[in-house]
Amino acid sequence: MTKIIKDMDTIIRELVNGNVAGLPTETVYGLGADALNENAVLKIYETKDRPRFNPIIVHVSEVSDLEKYGDNIPDTVFRLAERFSPGPITYILKKQNIIPDIVTAGNDSVGLRIPAHSLFRDLIRESNLPIAAPSANRAGKISPTSAEDVLSELDGRINYILDGGKCEIGIESTVISFLGEVPKILRHGYVTKDDIEKVIGKTEEPEPGKFISPGLLKSHYAPFTPLYIVKDVNEIDSLEGLKIGVLDFSIYSDLKETALNLFSDLRELDKMKYDVIIAEKVIDKGLGTAINDRLERASSGGLKDINSVLLKKKNYSEKIN
Ligand code: TXA
Ligand code: MG
Repeated sequence: MTKIIKDMDTIIRELVNGNVAGLPTETVYGLGADALNENAVLKIYETKDRPRFNPIIVHVSEVSDLEKYGDNIPDTVFRLAERFSPGPITYILKKQNIIPDIVTAGNDSVGLRIPAHSLFRDLIRESNLPIAAPSANRAGKISPTSAEDVLSELDGRINYILDGGKCEIGIESTVISFLGEVPKILRHGYVTKDDIEKVIGKTEEPEPGKFISPGLLKSHYAPFTPLYIVKDVNEIDSLEGLKIGVLDFSIYSDLKETALNLFSDLRELDKMKYDVIIAEKVIDKGLGTAINDRLERASSGGLKDINSVLLKKKNYSEKIN
């Protein structure tokens, strides 16, 4: 049975013993393990059914730790770190040999992040371990933003979840690669492209279909109920008797609040057993880019015709029955 606990010592013991645990960060909850222990990292892949080709971010407590695990770090990284770390940004750097291949899925690079959540930072400091942690959801599913969400994803698969309350940000870190000449934003997140470019100048988008972060699979964050992106949620009030759930962002005052509630609202709607969920995209600027990215990956596409919805529903019920 999986327990939600507040006792840090128990969690530290669990990690030192080579086990995995659910851990709070300011972005989303992570499934953490000692990054230098190959068997422990293997348990992360097994616990969340993660494909082995998808590398895992390593979390450290201080900016000065970047040099322990990253090699050839350009000055631009330190300029960004001064402004945004600890916080929701992950730097992809050439790795030092001390990082096991299993963490990086055989790549020569490692993703490093200094999380801002005080419990998580304390845990790294007190355990004296770099912590490998992907989001604590089953592969392809919605990222968890509370300890209870982690429980619903991984109940019975881990011993403990450290309760750090609801995540303050609610959407994952921005992932930026420094392997090429010009920094590339591999995953849009809370720190926006504009925020980054103000500090270090031009960044690039990865070329479509070419180098892309291995984990950036097209389908991700998917609820069990098919989600469709529509132009205007108010224009759709009936679909041949299907029950429709609306992911409604109009109740939120800004993009930060929308990002904060995106995954938890999606999770709530998913429990309601609607036939379909519909959502509108938000403005494609600033944090909106990250929100729209998550929506697109969570969705089954645009709502082009009712037949595709019915077919998807039929396939789904055949799968679960
Ligand atoms: O906010 C976050 O980043 C959360 C919290 C727990 O820190 N973590 C998170 O991890 O979202 P995950 O594994 O769900 O997403 C990390 C992304 C994946 O797309 C992965 O492929 C990419 O970062 N990534 C990690 N290491 C990489 C590397 N060495 N090269 C390229 N991409 C990498
Ligand atoms: Mg994830």
